Amino acid sequence: MHTIIEPFRIKSVEPIYFNTKEERKNILETAFYNPFLIHSTDVLIDLLTDSGTSAMSSNQWAGIMQGDESYAGSPSFFRFEKTIQDITGLPLVIPTHQGRAAEKILFSIFGGRGKYILSNTLFDTTRANIEFSGAEGIDLVCEEGKHPGIPAPFKGNMDTGLLEAFIQEKGAENIPLVILTVTNNSGGGQPVSMQNIREVKKICVENTIPLFIDACRFAENAWFIKLREAGYADKTIPEIVKELFGYADGCTMSAKKDAFANIGGFLAMRNESLAQQCRNLLIMTEGFPTYGGLAGRDLEAIAIGLIEVMDESYLQYRIRSIEYLSNKLVDAGVPVMLPAGGHAVYLIADEFLPHIPIEQYPGQALAAALYLEGGIRSVEIGSLMFGKYDTAGKLIPAQLELVRLAIPRRVYTQSHIDYVAEVIIEVYKKRDQIKGLTITEEAPALRHFTVKLKPHN
Ligand code: F0G
Repeated sequence: MHTIIEPFRIKSVEPIYFNTKEERKNILETAFYNPFLIHSTDVLIDLLTDSGTSAMSSNQWAGIMQGDESYAGSPSFFRFEKTIQDITGLPLVIPTHQGRAAEKILFSIFGGRGKYILSNTLFDTTRANIEFSGAEGIDLVCEEGKHPGIPAPFKGNMDTGLLEAFIQEKGAENIPLVILTVTNNSGGGQPVSMQNIREVKKICVENTIPLFIDACRFAENAWFIKLREAGYADKTIPEIVKELFGYADGCTMSAKKDAFANIGGFLAMRNESLAQQCRNLLIMTEGFPTYGGLAGRDLEAIAIGLIEVMDESYLQYRIRSIEYLSNKLVDAGVPVMLPAGGHAVYLIADEFLPHIPIEQYPGQALAAALYLEGGIRSVEIGSLMFGKYDTAGKLIPAQLELVRLAIPRRVYTQSHIDYVAEVIIEVYKKRDQIKGLTITEEAPALRHFTVKLKPHN
């Protein structure tokens, strides 16, 4: 078989600004060892996120020019609405400026003190919106999902036994919503199987609990179902996607991922009175229901991106390019989450740096080391992002200590990825010299965005 090539040519390019290791040492200090505080022009390869960082297609840019900027009833909205209805089968579509705006609206309605929102694994902003409402977010990922080094086809699945037990224990009346994240971002970009979605839906129906999908990476998840799940090899991606959303009462979506848009999101659902409640909240903070915090041109770009992302030659290239990086690291003995995720490779930081105690945030120390060595920006997904303190002020660690290398869509070429692998392998060889970090300043919620650290001495 030939090399799977990028299924596109490049028409417009952006420069990468090179800097030296000495310069990066200063930059890192100035940014308090927090990659979110580094200026993007100081980054060589930016793998901080796959969110909003996609290269748009010439068709999407053409769509941008077609955007109708009317306040109400723009044709761009109706194209957006119809595309989402066609793809998902969900009839009621509400645009938002990004995924977390959709979450904020949803959990303002479903959240509240004494309530539990159950998930395979909640993303950080989703959890924050749930907790802000007073409710508790509960992760019930399957057993395979808790062992990063052991491969399994659907490590993003929810543990249906735990789901049933939780409902039994707390009572269905205290569980207003179950939300499945596809793919499971915080759990390593791992997919959820159709069978699992079907089983979760059955339990939800038996207990009269609505099921929502956090659909950010729905197309990547559908591709994994096609590749790995019995009975799906001959189905088209739109067929798989339609079936997936068919089990849902609604979804939240960040169009900054699998819609190749630089901004945008939406809520979609079946229940008219719920949609009405959502629109009422939408008008207060996002905007009128036919634009919801977006420009008409954004609605056009999203509608076009949602179709493009389901192209099989794109998905084959996309998933293969992530696996390509993962394989290179595995061959060099670097501990990575297996198998490779749909949008990112995850380094297992506590195995990479076993000499650094969790209280000194090995994931953050590794992210800092990758930047210093080769100007690569990544993000810690571990105890800095998800850790909490007990009443005595002692850190309660996250389930996994990972560093995510998220690959922006259609942005980097194979030689960029080869360079990334070289840098990581170099850092791995020198791992004994890497020191832990101590927090000097932190916010009460979502602290990883603004936290300040210094090397532990
Ligand atoms: N849900 C998941 C699974 C996500 O990965 C994200 C964002 C959101 C919701 C929120 O969407 O950013 O449009 O408000 N994830 C980005 C990331 C930020 O880097 O993984 P948003």
